[in-house]
Amino acid sequence: MRNLQVNGERLWASLMELAQIGATPKGGVCRLAASDLDGQARRLFIRWCQEAGCDVRVDKVGNIFARRPGRDASLAPVMTGSHLDTQPTGGKFDGAYGVMAGLELVRTLNDLGYETEAPIEVVAWTNEEGSRFSPAMVGSGVFAGVFDLAEGLGRPDNLTGVTLGSELERIGFAGADPVGSRPVAAYFEAHIEQGPILEAAGKPIGVVTGAQGQRWYEITVTGQEAHAGPTPMPRRRDALVGAARMIDAVNLIGHAHAPYACATVGFVQVSPNSRNTIPGRVFFTVDFRHPDDAVLSAMDDELRRACEAVAVEIGLDLDLKEFWYFPPTQFDADLVGAVRGAAEAQGYPHQDIISGAGHDAVYLARVAPTAMIFVPCVGGISHNEIEDAKPEDLTAGCNVLLNAVLDRANAVTSERS
Ligand code: GLV
Ligand code: MN
Ligand code: MN
Repeated sequence: MRNLQVNGERLWASLMELAQIGATPKGGVCRLAASDLDGQARRLFIRWCQEAGCDVRVDKVGNIFARRPGRDASLAPVMTGSHLDTQPTGGKFDGAYGVMAGLELVRTLNDLGYETEAPIEVVAWTNEEGSRFSPAMVGSGVFAGVFDLAEGLGRPDNLTGVTLGSELERIGFAGADPVGSRPVAAYFEAHIEQGPILEAAGKPIGVVTGAQGQRWYEITVTGQEAHAGPTPMPRRRDALVGAARMIDAVNLIGHAHAPYACATVGFVQVSPNSRNTIPGRVFFTVDFRHPDDAVLSAMDDELRRACEAVAVEIGLDLDLKEFWYFPPTQFDADLVGAVRGAAEAQGYPHQDIISGAGHDAVYLARVAPTAMIFVPCVGGISHNEIEDAKPEDLTAGCNVLLNAVLDRANAVTSERS
């Protein structure tokens, strides 16, 4: 059987039902990692997987694996999925699409009574977003051996300091399975593009060849708290003025490496945050991205020089730490070929694309052959409550996922015959 088709209406209905958990008034979703709502979404996903006949396991970092058996239980599974956590002002599709697409392909195979050679596993990774607990991709990172388990579970909530591990326990998702001990024959992840390229090109399928590298920083600027009235301007050591100049420098560095560089400050804490006290301390984060590691290194250099210059000029102490780094990632040529082949066989217009966002696939690529499938999102907007995607594009991506997964899950048979 070739060119099987999923049930696009069922996929859409599941996405919309899932999006009710943490639904925001503006039509988005707020479902932070390891929150009560994350727990609710996880339980719904597990129920659906069990109804679809899957055996569900949870590992010690809360990653959920739902297994549909294959003909040969000794074969490593073909894995697909994404994440159920969202940004604080997130949308209905970032992450959820990849998990629901995996579930939909299992349901489709059940409808057809189709038995694959290798098992298939649908996975929901813990804390992909890195918003409540930083960095991003923690569940897949522990799975891939990038972080050790204690490091992953010890990540503190950015605002309250409570740890990921204690929150997973609280919501009932500190599982029993060791992390990373599962073999993976191949990993596919379907995701909305989260940028404007596919929509502008009028193509429903992006064949993702890799992802750009990222460097994240944590910067603390310390000056001196003083009274806003009696303190003359020349005597001030205003940490917020310093941070503001540094933040402007971050933005200029992004522009200087156009068109591919991205540079963002998304989290700022001002202390004491009192309107008539000159700020004594500012903490902020920097997120740099580029597909070329050498440019990312140049951006690193420019950031350090710019921040040091501002600190000297205003008389501030600077503590600049690189917090997280991963280099640009190339996905597996055979799996990328399977995605392209599935798009071609289905007659979907497609193009190669590099991911601007981070994904669990980036870490999976370190331990298993990996590829991704992108579909367009409306206006290229994501990490926003208005994030949207067309049902027909989501169906197209899921059809490509199904056929790419089958290509790998049956590869043993075709290799044997
Ligand atoms: C994940 O959402 C990212 O920051 O790319
Ligand atoms: Mn995502
Ligand atoms: Mn995201």
